[in-house]
Amino acid sequence: MLVAGNWKMNTDVPEGRALADAIAEGLSSTAADRGDVDFLVCPPYVHLPAVREALADVPVAVGAQDMHAQDEGAYTGDVSAPMLSSIGCDAVILGHSERRTYYDETDAEVNAKAQQARAHDLVPIVCVGETLEQRKAGEADTVVRSQVDGALSDVSIDGADELIVAYEPIWAIGTGESAAAEQAQAMHAVIRDDLRERYGGDAADEVPLLYGGSMKPHNAYGLLSQPDIDGGLIGSASLEAESFLGIAEKAAEVLETSGH
Ligand code: PGA
Repeated sequence: MLVAGNWKMNTDVPEGRALADAIAEGLSSTAADRGDVDFLVCPPYVHLPAVREALADVPVAVGAQDMHAQDEGAYTGDVSAPMLSSIGCDAVILGHSERRTYYDETDAEVNAKAQQARAHDLVPIVCVGETLEQRKAGEADTVVRSQVDGALSDVSIDGADELIVAYEPIWAIGTGESAAAEQAQAMHAVIRDDLRERYGGDAADEVPLLYGGSMKPHNAYGLLSQPDIDGGLIGSASLEAESFLGIAEKAAEVLETSGH
């Protein structure tokens, strides 16, 4: 079970450091048992060294929110996979719907970035998800399948710890309206099927599939207890240690009660 925070473009560096400190402190306290829950935080680029340092003594991985598909070059404003690797980054979010919407990122670009991430030992967190119009038109499964196929073409993995897929229905992101647990599960099952065809059963069954879109402590248990939901990619609720760790407590409860 993976609890991942996507801080987006929030907090300045001292605020981000304070948030990481609060997460570290919460995890170091023995008050709540968070069992086998894994953690990841994805702050803005400029926060990464400070956040890594703040989390050095607790088992929290650190990821970026995007990267360029090339190693280096004349790409003003961009950040490359080798740069992220060189500061000990573990993972990178790719193809988030906000990047697809505001920067017209295509599946082909997400695919090039995913290949580049693998080449530099970064775990790609490939984001997929449909719009409300696509869902209403009955196209959600087709859209998501084609995003998964587009993003993962020629992306090989040696094990399930080399890839994460996040299902984030666009209508649920930042809206306070999360998908119903069964609705999210149904889409996760579609994604799992797709991964099985691509990577075979064993790896595909273990690749973490995260749900993202208004996950909060109050709805986390229902979502995380679904068989194909292996964690959350959490936006606004990851900006406060209390709600982020509150979701982790629900994840631990799920692990304890269902072993899922
Ligand atoms: P949200 O964002 O939790 O604020 O809906 C999730 C995401 O966009 O990753």
